[in-house]
Amino acid sequence: MNFTGITLQFLTKLLTTFLFLPSDWSLRDQRTTCLSLGSRLHLENTTIIHVSYVPGGSKVHTLGTSRTCAPTAIVTVPLCRVQFFTNTTDTSSVHAEAWLPDEWYGRFLGLGNGGLGGCIDYNRLDYGAALHFATVGSDNGHDGAGGLPFLGRPEVINDFAFRAIHIEAVIGKQIAEAYYGQPHDKAYYLGCSTGGRQGTQAALKYPADFDGILAGAPATDFNHLVHWVAMLSRSTGAPTPASSPAYIPLRLWKVVTEEVLNQCDAIDGVLDGIITEPDACDFRPQSLLCYGGAGVNDTCLSLPQVEALQRIYSPLQLNGRFVYPRYDPGAEGNPESIEIFNGQIPSNGEDWIKYAVFNDTEFDFRNYGNEHLVVMDKINPGGISTFDGDLSAFRDRGGKFLTYHGRMDHLIASGNSKRFYDLVADTLGTPSLDDFYRLFLIPGMGHCLGGPGASNFGQLGAGTNAVNQSSHNILLALVDWVEGGVELDTITGTTTDGAHTRVHCRYPATSVWDGSAFVCS
Ligand SMILES: *[C@@H]1O[C@H](CO)[C@@H](O)[C@H](O)[C@H]1NC(C)=O
Ligand SMILES: *[C@@H]1O[C@H](CO)[C@@H](O)[C@H](O)[C@H]1NC(C)=O
Ligand SMILES: *[C@@H]1O[C@H](CO)[C@@H](O)[C@H](O)[C@H]1NC(C)=O
Ligand SMILES: *[C@@H]1O[C@H](CO)[C@@H](O)[C@H](O)[C@H]1NC(C)=O
Ligand SMILES: *[C@@H]1O[C@H](CO)[C@@H](O)[C@H](O)[C@H]1NC(C)=O
Repeated sequence: MNFTGITLQFLTKLLTTFLFLPSDWSLRDQRTTCLSLGSRLHLENTTIIHVSYVPGGSKVHTLGTSRTCAPTAIVTVPLCRVQFFTNTTDTSSVHAEAWLPDEWYGRFLGLGNGGLGGCIDYNRLDYGAALHFATVGSDNGHDGAGGLPFLGRPEVINDFAFRAIHIEAVIGKQIAEAYYGQPHDKAYYLGCSTGGRQGTQAALKYPADFDGILAGAPATDFNHLVHWVAMLSRSTGAPTPASSPAYIPLRLWKVVTEEVLNQCDAIDGVLDGIITEPDACDFRPQSLLCYGGAGVNDTCLSLPQVEALQRIYSPLQLNGRFVYPRYDPGAEGNPESIEIFNGQIPSNGEDWIKYAVFNDTEFDFRNYGNEHLVVMDKINPGGISTFDGDLSAFRDRGGKFLTYHGRMDHLIASGNSKRFYDLVADTLGTPSLDDFYRLFLIPGMGHCLGGPGASNFGQLGAGTNAVNQSSHNILLALVDWVEGGVELDTITGTTTDGAHTRVHCRYPATSVWDGSAFVCS
């Protein structure tokens, strides 16, 4: 079995884990134990909705009713499934599921969510259980992907901003203990995007909840992120593209991408359509300007369009103050970037601004601008911002934090992850965070996954789990770090077609072409 790179340590772990289990565990009927759980569990503020024993290779119905979430889920390995909800206040509750695999290695795993969701992450429940974690995922305090449930319900916002993951940890660990008859050994967290922010928030606010946190492409500095995305789309004419000379039709974005690559692909020494370090790319969109009064056609841009690009690829400022990093040159090549540049305010940002900040279902985005950020910063619903570098409590109790960010992320600027790293380093007064916090920047990867780069390294599930080895699987690498003190210097990714691998470097090391491969220096 090739579960981690450190086989001996792993086998010892496995052995001790099973030794600690009750001696009759393997003889017990896990189905019976599971089904009895419903009447045995008495947890604070918590109602058990349903307990079932699920054989491996099953398809099950999901918990929520919103059609914005998937209606069914796959269960790969046999497990005990506990569906429950916990009242967090009189006006809010978190719905969640614990998936407790028959073959448990003593580890607990909490899961994050995406966007403004609302949807239990069933794919990751399956992934965690298959890797032998007792895994818990929640609906983040509301059902469905949209932000309408936030309207006039500050406690629902609190669940979203910080409380749902804490409930997963507090209640989930007790459910796992009741089922296995012993407490968990180490607790982990996995999430990306909003999930990355939730993991960061957990480390800041509840530093004892998790021993290891894997927080991808974190949506930290959340209000500024929402504002930046809104301003990016405003730059190209949202919400009234038809009347905006700055609107760039989708076909012309192909021209922009070609020109970005034309100017910057070679900087890293390899013409492969991947810009290793977007911050080294000083993209000049003026070269796309139509000359001699030529009309806009399929190969050149008007002045207002070029000016829009200049705004997009510059850091966002407000009265000379930095607000948010610039859009990564190259990220526009991600086909999903149309979400931002299609002339509409992206729905996550739209919903947050309307329902969580201004409480106005008729909010008019035609006048949206920097003055709205001032209000958003002041209200900071639920303390959502998540931009505080004081991770000392998490560090001091031995917590390990792993984070990664795709350099072709079309939704969250990868520069924000460098910025957060630097904030933590400044706050803690240590230039290197290597002993507890490591950031991996992934060239050619989109938002959390995908893209032309070597973007599969176990970060999000079976689909991204190229090899079940900690050198290639960042979740297993986190386990090795927490339990074996094995520090990861690099993580190896595989392209989505499985054809190529590339070693990814931890910040501030850089990825350098040595003539035959990319190495870290
Ligand atoms: C949770 O809240 C609901 C609605 O207020 C209430 O009916 C239920 O009894 C509460 N459950 C627990 C376990 O507190
Ligand atoms: C249970 O509910 C009470 C009152 O709403 C709250 O103060 C307490 O923190 C809750 N406990 C948990 C574990 O959520
Ligand atoms: C990796 O582990 C998962 C879960 O245990 C398993 O389903 C999958 O077949 C394994 N893949 C490889 C390449 O070993
Ligand atoms: C588009 O404009 C460019 C520069 O103004 C010009 O060189 C090119 O011929 C034009 N293409 C078409 C199809 O009109
Ligand atoms: C929106 O409502 C919340 C309470 O739910 C309040 O804190 C906030 O200040 C309101 N926003 C504005 C712009 O008044």
